[in-house]
Amino acid sequence: MVLGNALSLSLPDDDGVHEVSAATASQFDYHVNCDGHMASGVGRGIPRSGPLEFLVFGDSRSRPGVHRKVIRSLAGESMHFILGTGDYVEHGRVHRQWRKFFEIEKELLSRAVFFPSVGNHDRKGRHAKEFERYFALPKDSSGSERYYSYLAGKTLLVVLDSNMRDPEMGRQTIWLQETLEAAKRTSVEHVFVTVHHPLYSISLHGGHRGTRNRWEALFRRYQVDAVFSGHDHAYMRGEKGGVRYFVSGGGGAPLYPRRKSAKKIDRDVIEVFHRKNHFLRVSVDGPSVHVKAVGLKGEVLDSLSWSSPPLSGRLVGAPAAQATPSIASKSSNRLPLFACLFGVVLLAVQVVRKAS
Ligand SMILES: [Fe+2]
Repeated sequence: MVLGNALSLSLPDDDGVHEVSAATASQFDYHVNCDGHMASGVGRGIPRSGPLEFLVFGDSRSRPGVHRKVIRSLAGESMHFILGTGDYVEHGRVHRQWRKFFEIEKELLSRAVFFPSVGNHDRKGRHAKEFERYFALPKDSSGSERYYSYLAGKTLLVVLDSNMRDPEMGRQTIWLQETLEAAKRTSVEHVFVTVHHPLYSISLHGGHRGTRNRWEALFRRYQVDAVFSGHDHAYMRGEKGGVRYFVSGGGGAPLYPRRKSAKKIDRDVIEVFHRKNHFLRVSVDGPSVHVKAVGLKGEVLDSLSWSSPPLSGRLVGAPAAQATPSIASKSSNRLPLFACLFGVVLLAVQVVRKAS
């Protein structure tokens, strides 16, 4: 319901009432009533034009103390939104672990919209019910909260689910190709993909062949700027076919070493490795992108800058290859207050954009 230049949205469900009011696209007030718990504040919206700044991190599961340190280390950062690389909890069906996650991240997530990707630990079997329940995500184009896209000004964010099996995986791949093809015909300048399983990695798990077989050709064909992943608990960076691959799995889970027996296909791509807790700070200004990997003491572990022509002008490589499946996901309980809140914060931004 649109009220002048402000919005009011009520979404009653079986757990309570979600209520949002928002005034501008650059900032919005929120008020949440969830199971009788109340919260309110001011969130930062995502601008339709001009520079963007965002953070990337993930794999915060299993060690709340370290997770808390990571969150403290980025407390002073300025951001329009956050990309999550997955594995927020150890067991996706365990409600108290989600409660702990939201308890640790509540202040951060009340300041900026969170775009999470599903990690293998966030699901149970083929399902990821808690994940889908605790976050309200923009499923307009995909019909699923497990994979989705969001247009932040001229920057397209694409979030994928590498845990799915066919036929869902097949549908997701078709959606991905349609989304990238459509973006190519618009004024989109940058495309960033988030997917939990890394295509390339020289740490314990190594590069994920299923994800690589399924999507690498599409990433290359449409020349996406960068792919952000997690799953291996370290920082890594590489490049192949004009696509930059970042692994950011240093959000709190036990750190993984460089694997001595890493496969050649992974060694040929990964150029930088740090076994450190960290987050990524990404700045986008016109054609320019700058990424910094930052450690817990503020030290810069790595940085990379590039400049891209608009997506419509980029070279098109070989046609996309046929893909193959990977892994899979279940769950339920009552929503913690901040889970309600963060879903609502994202909803608020979507509503503001639709209305303005
Ligand atoms: Fe994982």
